Amino acid sequence: MSAGGAAAGDIAQGLAAEGLCAGYGDAKVLSDLSLQVAPGEMVAVLGRNGAGKTTALMAIAGLVPTDSGTVRVGGADLTRASPGARVGAGLVSVPDDRGLFPSLSVAEHFSLVGSSVDEAAETFPALAGLAGRRVGACSGGEQQQVAVGLGMVRRPKVLMVDELSMGLAPQVAAELLAGLRALADAGETAVVVVEQFVDAVLAVADRGLVLSEGRVTRDEPAAALLADRGGLEAAYLG
Ligand SMILES: Nc1ncnc2c1ncn2[C@@H]1O[C@H](COP(=O)(O)OP(=O)(O)O)[C@@H](O)[C@H]1O
Ligand SMILES: [Mg+2]
Repeated sequence: MSAGGAAAGDIAQGLAAEGLCAGYGDAKVLSDLSLQVAPGEMVAVLGRNGAGKTTALMAIAGLVPTDSGTVRVGGADLTRASPGARVGAGLVSVPDDRGLFPSLSVAEHFSLVGSSVDEAAETFPALAGLAGRRVGACSGGEQQQVAVGLGMVRRPKVLMVDELSMGLAPQVAAELLAGLRALADAGETAVVVVEQFVDAVLAVADRGLVLSEGRVTRDEPAAALLADRGGLEAAYLG
């Protein structure tokens, strides 16, 4: 695992969201938000509560309607595609509530997407021993490994994960971040992760974005953001 280890691929083959404006009724949340992530690249999305991180991911996924802007994946224009069609086109997201079924087993989750626990266990070995366990009986970290693993086994062009380690211990977060880094390093997927452990995510991501009031206020190499911790905190408050 190394920050920025893989040479990122052609940005046109990854995620290109341009000029997104979106909100909820009269409440405008995203204003002219743009985000490009190349295959092989891992980008951290940072920002305080209410900055618009979840809304940005939901708008890209087609789960919040946009007033303007475009979403392209691998060069295909998905701006008017349904959420399901976006998933079919390789745009996969893991919501902040993980989107799992507590009463189904870990193995049942993977068979629902035509895969197996063994495939996900290549990235998260602990899953191998959990195949028969109900997801509701798994720890928070195990559940997030299931949720992220379900995204990975679809071999997406883009994988977006909202609040990767919300409520989890730093060591558990580190394993999940390493899993996403490995996915990016495999070279086929553009990885977007919303994460509160700022130092941990910037240590493994290639690039970081700061969202504030629905706009991208910083978009820089992860190392540059890490080296400017004071400025980063100011950007959060700004
Ligand atoms: N379903 C919703 N209806 C109305 N307003 C919402 C809804 N979801 C989020 N918001 C508002 O949109 C803004 C951005 O929220 P959100 O995207 O969840 O931010 P973040 O994920 O960065 O914490 C906040 O002001 C929030 O109150
Ligand atoms: Mg959020």
